[in-house]
Parts: sequence; C-alpha cells; structure tokens
Amino acid sequence: MVDYSHIFSERAHGMKASEIRELLKLTQRPGVISFAGGLPNPDAFPKETTREIINELLDEMPEKVLQYGSTEGVPELREVLAKNMQDRGMKVKKNQIMITHGSQQALDLLSKVLLDPGDTIVVGSPTYLGATGAFRAFQCRMETVPVRENGMDMDALDSKLKELDKEGKKPKFIYTVPTFQNPSGVTIPGDKRKKLLEIASKYDVLVVEDSPYSYLRYEGEPQPHLMSLDKEERVVRLQTFSKILAPGFRIAWTVGPAKLIDKMVIAKQATDLCTNPFGQYVAWKYIASGALDEHLEKIKKLYNEKRLTMLEAMDEHFPEEAKWKRPEGGMFIWVTLPEYINTREMFEKALQKNVAYVVGDAFYVENEGYNTMRLNFSHSSEEEIKEGIERLGKVIKQEISEKKGKLRETLITP
Ligand SMILES: Cc1ncc(COP(=O)(O)O)c(C=O)c1O
Repeated sequence: MVDYSHIFSERAHGMKASEIRELLKLTQRPGVISFAGGLPNPDAFPKETTREIINELLDEMPEKVLQYGSTEGVPELREVLAKNMQDRGMKVKKNQIMITHGSQQALDLLSKVLLDPGDTIVVGSPTYLGATGAFRAFQCRMETVPVRENGMDMDALDSKLKELDKEGKKPKFIYTVPTFQNPSGVTIPGDKRKKLLEIASKYDVLVVEDSPYSYLRYEGEPQPHLMSLDKEERVVRLQTFSKILAPGFRIAWTVGPAKLIDKMVIAKQATDLCTNPFGQYVAWKYIASGALDEHLEKIKKLYNEKRLTMLEAMDEHFPEEAKWKRPEGGMFIWVTLPEYINTREMFEKALQKNVAYVVGDAFYVENEGYNTMRLNFSHSSEEEIKEGIERLGKVIKQEISEKKGKLRETLITP
C-alpha cells in the first residue's frame, strides 16, 4: 500500500477537515430544526425568472452560453456589474472586475497571489470561517483584532499594526466583512470605516472587503462601502450572487486594482480556465432585465419577517443571561451566553432536543468564544423558527441552571 504521508505536500499536511462540517452533518438529521447553516431560503430562489432566462439564453445565444468563456468572466456580465456598482457609489471600471466560482474561490485566488508561507495577515475575531480556512491553506500567520458591537475595534487594530511594525512585520492585508458580518451580524459604522482606511494607509496594508450581505439591509441607514471611500487603490471587494440569486450557480465577482485583478486572473487560468459561462449569462440577464432589483425587494421582505420572528421568539424564550445584538441585515444573530457556559458542550443536548446552531468558537482563530453561538434566520420557516427558538431557550435555561448549581457546589466544597 502507498504511504501517502510522504507524498502529501507540506501544505496538504497543514489542511484539516473542518470539524464544523461534521457537526453540520448531524444537524441534517430528520426532525432537527437547524439554525446552523448559512443557507438562503429556497423560497427566495427566483425559479420562474431563472427558467425564462435559461430558455431565452438557449434560444438566443447557445453558441456563447455553452462555450468556454474568458478567464476574467464574460464581458456582458462584467459590464453590467460595473454599472450596478457605479449606481451604488463605487467608481468601478469593467477591467477591475473578475468573475469567480463563488467568493470562496476569490479568497483562495487572493491568497494564492498575495501570500507566501509565514506571511502575516490580520482578521477579525470572530471572523468568517471559510476565509480563515482558505488563508490557512497558504501557511500564513493570522493576527486577530476583536470584533465588537460596532465591528472591528479600530484602536485595537491600530495597536496591533503598530506592534507588528515594531517586530518588522508588515501584514499583507486586513480581511473584514464590514456589513452584517458572518458570523456576528454586526456592521462597521461610516466613521469607523474611514478610520479603518486611514489605519490601513498609515501602515500601508491592503484591505479585503468581503461583502456578500450588503444588499440585504432590513432597517437602519446604509453605510458607505469601503471601496467607495478608498482613494488609494487599497481595497479589494468581493461580492456574490449566492445570497441574492442562488448559490447553486457559484457566481461571484471581485473588484480591485487592475494590477491585482490581472494577477488573480492568471492564477485562475491554472485553476479552472473560467467560471461557468452558463451561470454567468444567467446572472447577466438577471441584472440587465431589472429582475435583481425586483427580487431584492422580495427577499428583503421575506428575510426581515424571519429576522423579526426570531428576535421576538428570543425575547420570549431566552433567559436574561443570554445577550445578542439586533442585526440590521444579513442572515445571522450572534448570541453570547455567560462565561461558564460552553456552547460546544451544550450542542449535544440541543441536538437531543432536535435543534441546532453553530458553536461560536469555530469562528475564532485563537481559543476563544466558547460561550457564543451563531443562529441563522434565513433558512427556516416561521413555524420552525418559533418552535426551534422555544426548544433552544429551554436547553439554554437548563444548561445555565445546571452550571450555576455546579458553581455553587464548588464554592461550598471545602
Ligand atoms: C463572509 C462570506 N464570504 C464568502 C462566502 C462564500 O460565498 P460564495 O457562495 O460566493 O462562495 C460566504 C458564504 O456564506 C460568506 O458568508
């Protein structure tokens, strides 16, 4: 038998299967109400519009949609995306846009062109776990900065970069999900966004603005995109059709300085030649026909109702020891429990009651966040949300009362 341990690259040795995937498999058991995955609701897929678009494409331009496409993406889609972003205050030209198979691929390609083993980057704590997974594969060192109620702590970011500067380390980039962050749901306000760019400029670091949820705002004032505040070609922005059309197409776009995009395109060529042209043309017609704007209104209404139902159920069923911030958009509510609660230990008990969440520590690079959890409100039905939150509330109350009892016992034990 071949001994693969000698054959795998050093990089492959460093790659670990995500244990969260294993936990997520458990949540798919029949009867379990799962708030774990970050999935859009199937009711939010524009099935009829997609069917019409696909028929039109096959009738009108089969030679294009069924053919290989260029690595940077089909010109029609890049054109219409540039216009869409200009309408939203970002001065973007078509040659600054490339299409990828999901933003997940963009995270991989960015790492490929920017990171050498041992390089330093800065990420929020907590942060999107798919991003840290992608970065880790390139053997970089991840420095963390706390994410608080208003997003990344800018004083801590400044101190961190100063400290690294003293050590002679210049991070390659700061990775942030500034709007309705996955997992915490929080948003960086406008003044702090300016501060972030000032700090990045002071220490000459790139900023990766990963923004899959910014079009899903249900209340409050929109905040300026980092890309629209950037005057130095310092920001790379990732957006995706996964949450505003359907993740099954795997179509996303990256916008950045042409120099960087050109390198990513070369890296992509060796990876998959091009993103599936069929999906790209669907996405193009979807925007160009005005269906996106119409559909956004529909899904915002749907997700807002689910968000409000979950928040209301949490108010009713969660104990006062549980804390959360009301997200103004996106798909997640982040819950912090007392420090003596470990949500990983509690997970099994929740599953026994047929309800699931993602354990919060999965979103931390360091060993932190054991008393936190992420709840997704977009995927479940209203009934499931009410029932699931009631079940989870009971599990949390039970866990708190058991742990409090144990704490009391240890206090009186001589
Ligand atoms: C912050 C963030 N970035 C990137 C992704 C990946 O999205 P895509 O489906 O475009 O690969 C997700 C998916 O949930 C996400 O939440």
